[in-house]
Amino acid sequence: MKRLLSGIKPTGQLTLGNYIGALRQFVKLQDELPDTEFFIFIADLHAITTPQDKGQLRHNIKSVAAVYMACGLDPGRVNLFIQSEIPEHVMLSYVMESTAYIGEMERMTQYKDKKGRQTEGIRTSLMTYPALMAADILLYDADIVPIGDDQKQHVELTRNLAIRFNNAHGQTFVVPEPFFPKTGARIKSLTEPDKKMDKSHDNPKSYILLLDDLNAVKNKIKSAVTDSEGTIRYDVKHKPGISNLLTIYASLADLSIKDLEKRYAESSYATFKADLAEIVVDTLRPIQERYHELIKHPLLDQVLDEGAKRAKEIARIKMLKVYKRLGLGRVK
Ligand code: TYM
Repeated sequence: MKRLLSGIKPTGQLTLGNYIGALRQFVKLQDELPDTEFFIFIADLHAITTPQDKGQLRHNIKSVAAVYMACGLDPGRVNLFIQSEIPEHVMLSYVMESTAYIGEMERMTQYKDKKGRQTEGIRTSLMTYPALMAADILLYDADIVPIGDDQKQHVELTRNLAIRFNNAHGQTFVVPEPFFPKTGARIKSLTEPDKKMDKSHDNPKSYILLLDDLNAVKNKIKSAVTDSEGTIRYDVKHKPGISNLLTIYASLADLSIKDLEKRYAESSYATFKADLAEIVVDTLRPIQERYHELIKHPLLDQVLDEGAKRAKEIARIKMLKVYKRLGLGRVK
C-alpha cells in the first residue's frame, strides 16, 4: 500500500494559504487515493526553531488537530498524530544531519529569509530544520508529500538525502514525490501580493485566518490591493493582486481561471470582490462551526492517541533498520 504524509507547524493560527496549499489537498486526496495510507501530523518540534510561549504552543497543537478534522480529514482514513510524541523523528533527524552537508542546509531559501529577518539569537535548529523534515517523511516511507510551493526545496533535499543514504548503505528509504495543488500552491499576501500570505507578517489585513471573524474576512477581501486598470485578468507580473484573488476564487470554487475571466469580463473589481468574499465566507463558516465543537471534544485526544500508535509501529521498525544499516549500537 502506498503512503502519503504531510504536516503543518503549529505556530500561530492557520491561514487561507495553508488551507488552499495544503489542508484542502489532504481532504481531496483522501477520496481520490483510496488505496493510500495517510499520515498527517502536527509538526510541533519544528515550532521551537523560534521562541514559543509554552501555553500558547500547547493550545496551538490541539488547535491544528481540530482544524485538520474541521476541514474534513476523516480519522477513520487518516493517521493523525503529534510529531513530538514519536521520538524516532528526532533520532532519524540526527541521522539526516549526518547525511546532509552544511552547504545544502545553508542554501535553503526559507532559512536564508528567516535568518535575514532575525539579527541575533538564531537557533541552530533553524538551519538544521530540513533534516528534521526529511526525517518526518523518510521515517514512514512516504511515496507522496502534498505541500505548497514554499516547501518544494525541502522535499527536493529529502529526495537527495534518501538517494545518498540508499547509495551508501543499501536500499533503506522510499524516495518521495512532492504533490502540488493545480492552482493555489502559493497564495499571496492581500496587501503585498508579491509576497506569500503568511501569518508571521505584521499587518493582519495581509492574511485571512481560518478562524477569523467572518465580517473581518469580508473587509480584508474588499480592501485587498489591486491595480488601476479595472479589468479582471490573470497576469501575475502586471496585476499580482487581481491574479491572487482569481487564484483564491478558482481554488475554492473548483473553477478554472479562464472561466472566471470570462464570467467577470464586464464586471467591476467591487462586484468580483463581493462574490469572492461570499465564497471565502461560505468555505470558512462550516469549518469554524465544526472547529468549535471539536476543540473541546474528547474525540480529539482519542484520534491523536490512535494515530500515534500506528505511527509508532512503523517508526520503531524503520529506526531499527537504519541503526542496523549504519552499524550503530548492537543491532544485528
Ligand atoms: P507550514 O506549517 O509553514 O505550512 C503548512 C503547509 O501550508 C503550505 N502553505 C501555503 N500554501 C500555499 N500558499 C501559502 N501562502 C502557504 N503558506 C503555507 C505549506 O507549503 C505547507 O504545505 N516544514 C513544514 C511542515 C512540515 C512538513 C513535514 C510538511 C514539517 N515536516 C513533512 C510536509 C512533510 C512547514 O513549516 O509548513
